[in-house]
Amino acid sequence: MTTPRISLKERERLLRAAGIDPHRIPEHVAIIMDGNGRWAKRRGEARVFGHAHGVESVRNVVEAALECGVRVVTLYAFSTENWNRPKEEVDALMDLLVKTLVDEAVELGSKGVRLRAIGDLTSLPQACQEELERAKKGPEGEVLLDVVLALSYSAKWEMVEAIRQIMREGLSPEQVLPSTIDKHLQTADLPDPELMIRTSGEHRISNFMLWQLAYAEFHFTSVLWPDFRKKHFMDAIRDFQHRERRFGALPNPNHGR
Ligand code: FPP
Repeated sequence: MTTPRISLKERERLLRAAGIDPHRIPEHVAIIMDGNGRWAKRRGEARVFGHAHGVESVRNVVEAALECGVRVVTLYAFSTENWNRPKEEVDALMDLLVKTLVDEAVELGSKGVRLRAIGDLTSLPQACQEELERAKKGPEGEVLLDVVLALSYSAKWEMVEAIRQIMREGLSPEQVLPSTIDKHLQTADLPDPELMIRTSGEHRISNFMLWQLAYAEFHFTSVLWPDFRKKHFMDAIRDFQHRERRFGALPNPNHGR
């Protein structure tokens, strides 16, 4: 499955035809991929079967993000808490990650996708760390999309790390501003997500980008992650475009007119 690079004009035409405003695309979309275990259970399979099928959903999201012109997609692939799952599941997830990175790296590069990761990466198996290091070099040409994998990640872990670093630098309390925190998070060079999608019907944030999602719009869908396709991503973008983003200000009397 490849996306031919299309002109800006053609992209705008396609997006408008799909009911999407090409000038109000979120720059950064963060996704909690949930429901793999339930999807597998419904088929009488082990949980890892669901994780393996979830890779096709990741491919769909990458395609959809490229088509829309989204610049960053962050995927919550493995939380700090996920280490507490049975060893076989954790090992299978790590193997799947390495296999996916190896299998997809060239194709992703040819599409202008750069891969990177956030989280406590030193806790990942060596093979995984090496593949992530290789992948982050990115494409030869222009980077169209950054795909950020949150691995061994939790927002509380990230914030504690940031605070420790700020303290090591010896800043006085008065010197610590919101921008200081921004700069010390793992996402320092990324824009905050404007849209957060969670699949599987759960309405929780589960220790994911707590700081960065302060003003994001949330889109919840009952679709289980392995069933999530391009059309579901487009639905989320359309939903986002119907929201009035106020950032604490008063309602805009012209919204929706
Ligand atoms: C949550 O479903 C999903 C995960 C813990 C892992 C997500 C990983 C993938 C989709 C694998 C591929 C990803 C990449 C980036 C290659 P769950 O197991 O908590 O499902 P449940 O809530 O139904 O039990």
